[in-house]
Amino acid sequence: MNIAVIGTGYVGLVSGVCFSDLGNKVICVDKDQSKIDMLNNMDVPIYEPGLKELIKKNVEKGNLTFTSEISKGVTEADVIIIAVGTPPLPSGEANLSFIEQVAKDIATEMNTYKIVMTKSTVPVGTNEQIQQIISRNTDQPFDVVSVPEFLREGSAVHDTFNPDRIIIGVESKQAEDVIIELHKPLTEKIIVTDIRSAEMIKYASNAFLATKISFINEIANICEKVGADVTKVANGMGLDKRIGSAFLNAGIGYGGSCFPKDTQALIQIAGNEDYEFKLLKSVVQVNNEQRYNIIEKLKQSLGSLSGQTIAIWGLAFKPDTDDVRDAPAKEIIEELNKAGAHIKAYDPIAMENFKSLIEANENIEWCVSAKEATEGSHAVCLLTDWKEFKDLKLLKSVQNGMKQPIFVDGRNVFTKEDIQETGFEYISIGRPSMKGRIPVTVTQ
Ligand code: UDX
Repeated sequence: MNIAVIGTGYVGLVSGVCFSDLGNKVICVDKDQSKIDMLNNMDVPIYEPGLKELIKKNVEKGNLTFTSEISKGVTEADVIIIAVGTPPLPSGEANLSFIEQVAKDIATEMNTYKIVMTKSTVPVGTNEQIQQIISRNTDQPFDVVSVPEFLREGSAVHDTFNPDRIIIGVESKQAEDVIIELHKPLTEKIIVTDIRSAEMIKYASNAFLATKISFINEIANICEKVGADVTKVANGMGLDKRIGSAFLNAGIGYGGSCFPKDTQALIQIAGNEDYEFKLLKSVVQVNNEQRYNIIEKLKQSLGSLSGQTIAIWGLAFKPDTDDVRDAPAKEIIEELNKAGAHIKAYDPIAMENFKSLIEANENIEWCVSAKEATEGSHAVCLLTDWKEFKDLKLLKSVQNGMKQPIFVDGRNVFTKEDIQETGFEYISIGRPSMKGRIPVTVTQ
């Protein structure tokens, strides 16, 4: 099949590359010429494990090309995928201006029957608007289909090739057959719905996952008060098949480009229909507050934070990505900075992106390794659960260079047994504090 993908962000680029790997001829279009230049040089504008190799393989096979000219993509394509961003407006609603422009551009270039497949996350009713915009701008026949994307950053390639399900919102049999054919190599679990339900499935799924996270974070906060351990509680709950163990990891809350944006958008979608989504509003509020618990924990251990040096391990909103959108690290570092602390920050991949988020000052130091960040620090805070931080050897090796061996684990990555082999005072989320057995020589 000939496919054009409009938008080379996480969703567009990964989908395009994976469809090309399945043997389709794919052309990825982006109006940002610098991104296209990078891709044509086989440089990838985002960090996503496995993607670079897959791009190289399919470009060399002749299945994958990149262009900034939408006309080149649309003319040849049987299926045109819209995967442009829908960033939040100040009201929380999704900004649909990119989608609307792309719909117009596609219509102008249409030369025969096309299927326009929307992968961007869009409010209920948007695909009907896309249909109307295209109709106003072309006489060619076409169908609009909604196929929401559920991939996670950091495992986007794996998720695309191994989806739990494919949702196809479609009103035409001709388009339904083509889109089922396109997705058949990926899974047998293909659900065909009306377009509005497909749009809603995406928001409802993200809202539900965000709810699970805020729920377990509140349980963690209560565990701290009653002396229970949230990891044991989550494990016990998760074994109930009706609950499931996924997304019950307590920590400093969710971030990223989807959950914060999509929960706000769904609250707004409901609000537009005079429905107050009370539960989801609380989920968002719990999440916004959860990240600040780290600051409270530090204050309880260190007293005033003024003049104290705090090492930060992890800036990305989750591991295996360079994405820092809505990363809890931003507010945590800003708050530490306000409290007069000196910050030594390190992330394996997301440092450069993070630097552009935050105003530089002499109290924020960027380090080249996890070890360097801890040298001379009064405490370490783990904010992103990168694999390299979950290393007991690393943990043991850094304690002696610190002024105080305090470890605040925002993602609960270490066990009691791990900590006993160190000299750290270990504070985590929703679990009793622990102390290691190994004597430590602290630096002055
Ligand atoms: C999410 C959805 O999972 C995906 O289906 C959708 O397409 C896009 O949004 P993503 O944002 O890439 O994907 O990351 P995800 O792995 O879902 O994690 C989101 C956030 O929740 C991260 O900040 C993560 O650290 C946090 N999280 C996740 C928790 O705090 N606890 C958990 O148990 C799981």
